[in-house]
Amino acid sequence: MSVNYPRHVAIIMDGNGRWAKARKLPRALGHKAGGDAVRKAVQAAEVLGLECLTLYAFSSENWKREEEEISDLMNLMRRFIEANLQDMIERRVRLKIIGDYKAFAPDIVAKLEDALERTSGGERTLAVALNYGAQQEIIRAAGLAAEEGAVTAERIEKHLYTADLPPLDLLIRTSGEVRLSNFLLWQSAYAEMLFLDVLWPDFDEGHLRAACEEFAKRERRYGGR
Ligand code: IPE
Ligand code: IPE
Ligand code: MG
Repeated sequence: MSVNYPRHVAIIMDGNGRWAKARKLPRALGHKAGGDAVRKAVQAAEVLGLECLTLYAFSSENWKREEEEISDLMNLMRRFIEANLQDMIERRVRLKIIGDYKAFAPDIVAKLEDALERTSGGERTLAVALNYGAQQEIIRAAGLAAEEGAVTAERIEKHLYTADLPPLDLLIRTSGEVRLSNFLLWQSAYAEMLFLDVLWPDFDEGHLRAACEEFAKRERRYGGR
């Protein structure tokens, strides 16, 4: 592994709907294929030696979608946990959730909390953004920081969901859209970014490897020279 390889990669997993549309399939099948791509991405992160992979799975704005699609996504989440928990424990992947997941149905909250607990000994982290919005995260952290005294960047960072994760190195968005859609706004201040033309269900280990290699070539300056 190159010394310049990223430790923490985050992905805005976009394009499930367009993937399904291109195949004349219902959107639900696009999300299902997206779930398979998640499983592959977690394995690829292990192969590539990433310390943390953060995936945007459901934004605080995704509640605006039709009820049927939301319910498909929730069912997918239930099935995903059931099908992958044992494997995550065996591979020593620690699950972390960023976002207000307690707004989900009680059975999902229970499943997630069980998974959090049973994977807590893992060495690498899979952080999943659920009911996540970066603006809400910053407002919450700033409020907690203010309770402690003067609001400083250090105090805010301490209260972000990502406080215990390595700094974000690389942010990838699939599907060709070039926007952040309220994802990791604070954390991406100096992250490298990559916008890929691939739809999320088609994303595989080769794409992640190429992204990490592109990252390794970039010169990060943090405002210096
Ligand atoms: C990303 O795929 C998955 C979620 C937002 C949950 P989309 O459903 O946004 O797919 P497109 O953007 O319509 O293609
Ligand atoms: C961002 O994708 C959210 C996730 C990938 C979970 P969206 O498809 O919701 O974002 P917009 O609506 O195109 O900005
Ligand atoms: Mg989308």
